[in-house]
Parts: sequence; structure tokens; C-alpha cells
Amino acid sequence: MLQRDADGAPTPDLKIRLSDYQPPAWRIASVELVFDLDIASTEVYARLELESASATPTPLRLDGEGLELIELRLDGKRLSPLGYRVEAHALELSDLPASCVLESRVRIHPQDNTALEGLYLSGSAERGFLLTQCEAQGFRHITWFLDRPDVLTRYSVELRAEAARFPVLLAGGNAVGSGTLADGRHWARFDDPHPKPSYLFALVAGRLECLSQPYTTADGRAVTLNLWAEADAIGQCHYALGALQRAMRWDERSYGRNYDLDMFHVVATHDFNMGAMENKGLNIFNAKYLLADADTTTDEGFRAVEGVIGHEYFHNWSGNRVTCRDWFQLSLKEGFTVFRDQSFSADMHSQALKRIEDVATLRRMQFPEDAGPLAHPVRPAEYAEINNFYTATVYEKGAELIRMLAARVGPEAFRRGTDAYFARHDGSAATVEDLLAALGEAAAVDLTPYLAWYAQAGTPRLSARCHHEPATRRYVLRLAQHTAPTSGQADKHPLPIPVKLALFARDGRMLPLRLAGEADAAGSERVLELTDAAAEFVFEDIDEAPIPSLLRGFSAPVILECALPPDDLALLLLHDADGFNRWEAGQHLASDAFRAAHAGAAQHAALAAWTGALGALFAQADFPDAALLAELLAPPAISELEALVEPHDPDAVDAARRRLEQALAQALGASALAARYTALHAAEQGAHDAPAQARRHLKRRVLELWALVDAPAALAAAEAQFAQAAGMSERLAALRVLLRHGDAGMRHAALAAFRARHGQQPLVMDTWFAVQAEVPGAAALDTLRALLGDTAFTLRNPNRVRAVLGTFARQNRTAFHRADGAGYALLVAQLQALDKLNPQTAAALAQAFNGWARLEPKRRALAESHLRALAATLGLSRNLADIVQRSLA
Ligand code: BES
Ligand code: ZN
Repeated sequence: MLQRDADGAPTPDLKIRLSDYQPPAWRIASVELVFDLDIASTEVYARLELESASATPTPLRLDGEGLELIELRLDGKRLSPLGYRVEAHALELSDLPASCVLESRVRIHPQDNTALEGLYLSGSAERGFLLTQCEAQGFRHITWFLDRPDVLTRYSVELRAEAARFPVLLAGGNAVGSGTLADGRHWARFDDPHPKPSYLFALVAGRLECLSQPYTTADGRAVTLNLWAEADAIGQCHYALGALQRAMRWDERSYGRNYDLDMFHVVATHDFNMGAMENKGLNIFNAKYLLADADTTTDEGFRAVEGVIGHEYFHNWSGNRVTCRDWFQLSLKEGFTVFRDQSFSADMHSQALKRIEDVATLRRMQFPEDAGPLAHPVRPAEYAEINNFYTATVYEKGAELIRMLAARVGPEAFRRGTDAYFARHDGSAATVEDLLAALGEAAAVDLTPYLAWYAQAGTPRLSARCHHEPATRRYVLRLAQHTAPTSGQADKHPLPIPVKLALFARDGRMLPLRLAGEADAAGSERVLELTDAAAEFVFEDIDEAPIPSLLRGFSAPVILECALPPDDLALLLLHDADGFNRWEAGQHLASDAFRAAHAGAAQHAALAAWTGALGALFAQADFPDAALLAELLAPPAISELEALVEPHDPDAVDAARRRLEQALAQALGASALAARYTALHAAEQGAHDAPAQARRHLKRRVLELWALVDAPAALAAAEAQFAQAAGMSERLAALRVLLRHGDAGMRHAALAAFRARHGQQPLVMDTWFAVQAEVPGAAALDTLRALLGDTAFTLRNPNRVRAVLGTFARQNRTAFHRADGAGYALLVAQLQALDKLNPQTAAALAQAFNGWARLEPKRRALAESHLRALAATLGLSRNLADIVQRSLA
């Protein structure tokens, strides 16, 4: 369990290990909480019904941090200080009866809580509201408790506050009463019939408006859906309300899951460390993922709201009804729920496009993590600070593992398996093994080999080599896998890798697939499973050398290494029926072209094939999917290309990528781009259906490419588009082009106009900051300093911090990695200041240094020395210290 130093404080260098897991020695049968709420000082009364798990009780150690103890009572009797021991982060009580009632009274200070964990104030002291964030370990900042996910308890909560200042009082569960106290304050009570861990507790109190809608579940429960926001934002909740209803219906149909309380509340806050939180019956959302309207939200923004609404709602079963035994199992709820929200979004929109987006995200965020010093398994073996494990690996790679398992067992068995999992573990805390067992039993397959995916860090490289034997009419495919060592995990084992594939003839036909030893061909698409380090697969009846389309739909989260000639890739880009692999062929070509450009080649067969095939697709007047076309017209992200050259110079990577885009724009041609832009502009009516969104997506890409070959014409179009835009997608697309290609006058005018229009809307102002922080060039750091000095900038708001510093460090690679190290110095100074206020946000931001060791020697040395200076900062939080130490290890 938690290791402690002499005075009881957990020390940053001590790790918590999965192998040390012990079930709780005490259970909490029920908890009653009473909050006397106020901004400066809140009093929390807690009554715990405790039961020892063993006949001879061991000492009870409750978690608590920053609590001012007022009083403790055991079975009604006040405890003298001799009866307990308060340590830095624990309260220890010895010699307790096997079953007893512990009452505590503590004081906390929400207004001073800048870390935004536990009970805190959102907004100003005069107008803001109080709310909680408890995952992962925020509840211990509220009261003494067994703050671990395998302690599930029934909650009964009373909130008391001044009615004028806190007219709305909310907690998770069903509302069971309200009234007025003798002193004039009001109160409200909530009972949650579903046992839950402390991380799912939530309360909200303040001046909020409500958007309400009745909903009847498939199993007949009448539910009230309530979306809450401050008065100026309640009008922006309609889209989220619709999305919530779609998510609820989808989960009923796809997983047979129904909602289980009378009320479902969702609250928007501008002050939030994360995206959103699935507290039972009372979801709390970063306003960025709840508020949306056409004037302030881009098309991508709308889709993000829908996805996050779905994600948090789906947790009601995958996370809440069935929770995690310990935080090592985090992916059991997060990976699974990301898979569920991805499937939901795909069903609402387009399967192929969603898959492309999700794989692009995985490659941009998770692959670099898996290749750097912070690499860890989807189920880590140890951690020093759990907040640092809400990572792309746990989330995105975790979702890929569920996707592989779902594909392995097939849709019917998957549904039977999830039904069994939810039934078997309802109201309790489960493990990854439990889910795999339920899925495996439903399909009568042994899924235990897949557990290795949960335990092994690093992205496997899958190499494919093939040759055709005309004499035997055989096609031989040799697959081999290799995973490079990661920090703390030198030896890697082969993993089961499902490889979905098809073979194409030169005319674009898919060939029937018959493996050696089979009597008949089994379709033209199939899944091979590579279980060993290498294996050979032989296809029969193949007359001419085919073109393999491997890893279709991205059937496993691996790096595929298969050297196909440019013409073959171009054929797949033009003809593959799998929308994902069609895009993938283009990405492969672009990567090959990038390598050549980076090595100094002015021309290359891959570049010619890439631009040629895209030119042909672009010219097809009837190309069916504008959004797919837009995705096809984009080369891989910088962070993907960085991985292709080692060590790398960010300026050289950026320059080579620009040459690709330039070549593409030239191949498409200024006049074709202008014509397509004009046609799309004429078709733009501000509609929000999928085809309209797809056209805007393509229009944005066309405008960007056009600006590379005819800047004056594209700028004129962008200025007009910016001025006339009916919605944020159009306005922002134009603004980005103006900022990259326009002169100072244009840039300043556009930014001033944008601010004049949206200055009072915090989420849009985040965008105003972000679009400036991402502009590359020699002046980038001056721009950044100006943004940091702006009256609207504050380190106290995580969204603003991410908009400026997060965008700078992650999206503006050449500026952050300036050759003189000034970008590193700036980020380190900001991290030192931010860490004092909000360690969780600081630690997340510091991960931008990931990959420093793969930089060319000069930058590498500079980055390392700045990281070392950061590591040496006095009083660093455990969150930030953990990231910096692991990054340097
Ligand atoms: N449970 C998390 C929120 C959370 C994460 C709270 C870490 C505390 C610490 C929530 O379900 C979540 O995963 N939110 C994501 C968004 C989601 C759509 C992937 C987030 O906040 O980024
Ligand atoms: Zn989640």
C-alpha cells in the first residue's frame, strides 16, 4: 500500500505498486455528509458506518489532506486527541470495535483552492459557484475517508447555504427534501441508492440556470435531464441536451444500458483541470465541452461536445455501476469508455472518418508517449502520482485494446460478454481480468494472451514482407513483430496481433483469399493473427503479384513497416474500398515523400505518386465524400514525422513538411484550388448537417493550400470570408490563414475584430489566444510574451493556460524548440509559477518536453539543462516532480 516516510507524508520517490494490492481492511456501509457551505470557509460533517473486514480489526487509516479537524466522535462519544493520531495525510485510529460509527467535523477553504481538486470556487467570489472534483483523490481534500475506488458506499448528503448567494444546491443521487433552517439559510438532501466510490461524489452550489427536459428510458424510467450553466451561457446548452439524449438512446440500443436515477444533472464550469467528469448523477463539464452554438463553436467543437457528453454518460455503467478495483485498472473504465464514445460518434457520423481521426490522435499523442521516457503499459505496474496516468496510453491505446477484443470475439459475443460483465460486477469494483473473462466466456475463446497488451509498454513494429511465386501461383506473406525496450522494461514479448487484410489485383479488384490447407476461399477480406515473433502465411490461386492492403481499419495499434512501391500505394489511395486504408496509403506515401524531402531530394517517386493520385481525386467532380477528401489532402502531423528521423531538428522537419504541402498545392494548381474554393464558398449556407460540415472542412483545407500557391488571391478570399462568416468554423478558418499569410495590418485588424466581437466569451477568447500561440516564425516568442502579458491572461484558469502555453509547446514546434533554448526557458519559468497554483495542470503541460532525448545534440542539451533546472526547483509538487524525474530518467 501507500508507502510513507517518517512523518507519514507520502514521498514523491516512493511508488505504489499493483503487486502490493490488498483489499480494504475496513468497509464503509454508509456515509452521511452535511456541508455548511461558504466560499471562504466550509464545514463538513461526516458520519461513517464502519465495519472491519476481519474479526480482529486492524488500525483504521483514513485519507485526508489539508483538513482542519474540529471534532471526532466514536459511537457518539467525543474522542480526545489521545484516541487518534493525525499524520500529514492520514488519520489513524487504533483499537476500534469491529463495527462502529465515526463522526468527524472539519473545516476547508474552497476559495483558496487553486489546485481545483476537492471543493473549490469557479469564477469570482462575488458571482462564482462552488463545486467539487474528486477523481482521482480529491475526496480526501473534503473529509477523512477511505479514498480508494474499491470502497463503495451509500451516500446521503445534506447541503446548507445562504439562499440568496447559493440558490441552487445539487448533489448526486435522488433529491429527497429541501427546506429552510432556523437561521434563514436553506438546505437540500440527496440520497444515492447506488453504492459508489468516493471519487464519484459531487456537489454544486451557486447561481446557475437550468435547461431541463424529460426523458423516458427504454426500460420505462422517467428521468429529468437538467443542464446547468451560468445565466449568460444557458442559451448555449441546447446542443449538449440533444447530444445527451442521443447518447442515452445509443447506449440503450448498443449495450442495453439504461439510466438508473430520477435526475441526471450536467453542470458547466470554466475552471476545470480536465475535459469533464462522470460523477454519479451529477456530471461536471469543462464549459469547452458543453457550451456550443454556431456563432462561437466550430464544427469540430460540436463533435467534441457530443463525444464528451457521450463519454461521461457512458461511464454511468462502464465506471460507475461497475468501477475499478484500484487505479492501476484505470483503463478498465477509461479505455472501454473511450471505445464506447468512439463507436457512438462513428454511428452518429461516418465510420471511416471517425476511424481516421482516432488513429491520427493515437499517432499524434500516444505513439510519441510510448516511444519516450514516460512510456508505460496500459495497466501500469506502479505509480508515484496517479493524476499523471490519465494518459493517451491508458485512454487511446486502452480503447484500441478493447477494439481488438471486440473484433476478436465478434459483435454478438461482444454484446453477450459486456452484458455478463455488467451483470456480474454491478455495484462492485472490477479488474481488467474480469472484463476479459466475461468477453472470453461469451465467445468461448481464451483471451488471456491479450493481457500481455495491458502489461507491455511500447508500440510493436509489425514488418510485412511478401513475394509472389508465379510458378506455384502462391503469394507468401511473412509477418514479424518487434517492440523496442522502454524505460524499466527491457525485455519484450510477442503479442497477439490481428492483421486484417485484403489483396488487390492491378485493376483494383479484391482477390478471393484461400490460405494453404483450406478447401475454399473465405471471402476477400480476413483477419490473420500473428501470435509469435514471426509467421508466414501462404495464399493460393494468386495469378499475378497482388497489392496487399494490410492492417485494414487499423486492426491493431502497431507501426506497420511494409515497403510498397509508390505506384502500389497510389493504387490503394485511388481504389481501396476501406476508407481508412485509402487514407493510410496516402499517409504512407506522404511519409516516404517526407523522408526523401528531409534527406534533401527535390523530387521523389513517392512525392510524385502522392501528389499525382491526390490531383486525380481532387479533379473527380463526383468524389463522394468531401470530408474524406479533406483528410486525404493533409500530410501526417509534425509529431508523426518527427518519429521518422532520429535525431531530429524541428526546423528541418518543419521545412520538409512544408515542401510536401507546397508540392501538393502546386500539383493541384492555383486555378483548380481557386475554382473549388469559389464553388464551396457559393454553396456555404451555414447549415450544420454532415454534408455541410464536410464541405466546410474541405473548404478550409482548399483555402490553406490555395494560400501556398496564390497568397494574394487566397488572402482576399480569407478577408471576405472572415468578414461575412455566419459561424465560427468559417471565421476561424479564415483567421488562421490571415495570421499565417497576411501582413501586420491584416493580422492586427482581424485579431481586433475577433476580440471586439468575442471578448466577453471566455471559450472564444481561448481560441483567440491559441491561434496566435500556434503561429510559427521568428516573432513567435515575442507574440507569446505579449499574450502572457495580456490583461485577459491568467495562470489560474486551466483553459487559458492550455490555450497559450499548451498550444505553444505542442503545436508550435519550431518556436518551442528554438535553437537558442529560449522556448524551453520560457516554458520552465511558467511551469514554476503554475506549479504553485495548480500542480495537475503544470504536470500535464510539462509533458510537452517528452521526446527531448531524440532532438539533435544542441537542442537536446539545452532541453535537458532546462529540465534539470526545473527538477531542482524547490518545493516542486509531487505531480510535476514525478513527470520531470521520469522524463530525465
Ligand atoms: N474521469 C475522467 C475525468 C478525470 C480525469 C477526472 C482525470 C480526474 C482526473 C473523464 O471521464 C474523462 O475521461 N474525461 C476526458 C474526456 C473524455 C472525452 C476522454 C478528459 O477530461 O479529458
Ligand atoms: Zn473517462
